[in-house]
Amino acid sequence: MGIQITPSILNADFADLGAEVARIGSADWVHVDVMDNHFVPNLTFGPAMVEALARATDVPLDAHLMIEDADRNALAYVEAGCGSVTFHVEAAAAPVRLAREIRAHGARASMALKPATPIEPYEDLLSELDMLLIMTVEPGFGGQKFLDLCLPKIRRARQLMDKHGVETWLQVDGGVSLDTIERCVEAGADVFVAGSAVYSADDPDRMVAELRAAAEAAVSA
Ligand code: DX5
Ligand code: ZN
Repeated sequence: MGIQITPSILNADFADLGAEVARIGSADWVHVDVMDNHFVPNLTFGPAMVEALARATDVPLDAHLMIEDADRNALAYVEAGCGSVTFHVEAAAAPVRLAREIRAHGARASMALKPATPIEPYEDLLSELDMLLIMTVEPGFGGQKFLDLCLPKIRRARQLMDKHGVETWLQVDGGVSLDTIERCVEAGADVFVAGSAVYSADDPDRMVAELRAAAEAAVSA
């Protein structure tokens, strides 16, 4: 599939989200951070807002659910029109069943790991997933510093994917910018979430292009 850039709207203007997503027309996905004030200490959108956002853009939505009880709440985001739905393994009682349900309802199924959650226990689940998200900050807020300590896990996840011959995408989220994207590529990531880097730029779509160019250059380096 190659490099994909998925801007997060967490640092966009929530009062004008339709216009904000129109500023990133060249993005592969719009990353929507759903927070419930329980799994993380912050509160953002629910299914009704996500559904309105899906109607407002042609760019597919990549929902990142930072919510408790993912087993019961994730399918609402497939029904809201998201093309990809990521649940946190720390919040899922039955991740295999949940991934299969997300796929059966027509979305890509993705599972996220917080920085302290290891990949090794989930090796045999990789074939059930369309994407694995490795967080490179503690989830909850935009604008945090990239955690280099997550890089070895990205590397190990890529090795496990190669070993099993799966087509699973490997997404990184948190502190991704022109300063850090190259390290993520070198470790084996191919899908890049960037929130503050994109929405603090004067021209967000140009930043999407610059991130893509930096990642593609690191792939061929
Ligand atoms: C953090 C969110 C991220 C965040 C990324 O909990 O999952 O998607 O918005 O923002 P930056 O790129 O600013 O770290
Ligand atoms: Zn996110």
